[in-house]
Amino acid sequence: MSDNNADIKHTEIKKIGIIGAGQMGHGIAQVAAVSGYDVILSDISEEALKKGVAGIEKSLGKFVKKERMTPEDRDAALARIRTTTSLKEAAQSDLIIEAATENEELKFKIFRDIDAHAPAHAILATNTSSISITRIAAQTERPEKVIGMHFMNPVPIMKLVEVIRGLATDDASYNAVVQAAEKMGKTTVEAQDYPGFIANRILMPMINEAVYVLMEGVGSVEDIDTTMKLGTNQPMGPLTLADFIGLDTCLAIMNVLHEGLGDSKYRPCPLLVKYVDAGWLGRKTGRGFYQY
Ligand code: CAA
Repeated sequence: MSDNNADIKHTEIKKIGIIGAGQMGHGIAQVAAVSGYDVILSDISEEALKKGVAGIEKSLGKFVKKERMTPEDRDAALARIRTTTSLKEAAQSDLIIEAATENEELKFKIFRDIDAHAPAHAILATNTSSISITRIAAQTERPEKVIGMHFMNPVPIMKLVEVIRGLATDDASYNAVVQAAEKMGKTTVEAQDYPGFIANRILMPMINEAVYVLMEGVGSVEDIDTTMKLGTNQPMGPLTLADFIGLDTCLAIMNVLHEGLGDSKYRPCPLLVKYVDAGWLGRKTGRGFYQY
């Protein structure tokens, strides 16, 4: 597709394609649709799309019930979301946000595919929490238009989007993504492309340390969480939060920090490794530090 004025088109994001309808993907679809964007939500699985849309309906239902949104606005937002199992179709957008499973090879393949099918002006964003934006960008013919857009879970509630520049990301893409995130009601921060960016570089070592405190018998699960909730005003204690995020995700991010930064202070706690080995991954498997 020809693109004579890429900079102007960058600031005119109207349609957002989302790859992956899981927890993060459908949350992003929701906030984008509520803020007036046309959204095309894609996943390889019909089942995942159905679950994703049900998640959006449930979340919007909460806002309506609390009278923070009218039923008309909810219906209008839902009407702005289309679903598809075709990545090619989702790529026909001005901004494509990838929120697939946190697996480097998978993301590389998705980015090669989106790059092949998206219009030339399109910005390709990834919601990765730990994979290098620069490495993902290098899979495409448009590294200057590849950027990190890291939303926090639960997306409809959490105010932050970390915007991460890859080595080649240009200012036009950065500004367009900041503008889009702000339109979605989010506050952005700018992070450079180093392992864990800002949020997980700080959050994950804290969670990992909480698991060490548990392993060494310094405190019980409940007392560790109560300490941090009541003593430092965190909404969830670190072990509850780890269960919420998924212990496999926490471990994967610690491994990225450890390998990428090469400092032993990031070594994953052996007890965290053991929980993941046992398949005790937190809320999603019904057992982590707590039982659900
Ligand atoms: N949609 C709509 N509303 C939602 C919702 C959703 N998906 N999830 C929660 N809510 C609403 C609830 O209905 C409730 O509303 P009211 O206060 O009006 O009743 C409100 O949010 C609070 O929820 P709860 O009462 O159920 O529970 P809570 O007070 O513990 O809040 C929480 C839940 C907002 C998740 C809060 O515990 C919290 O902020 N926890 C920390 C979350 C966090 O740190 N997230 C970042 C994780 S790290 C990450 O995402 C990055 C990564 O790469 C790993």
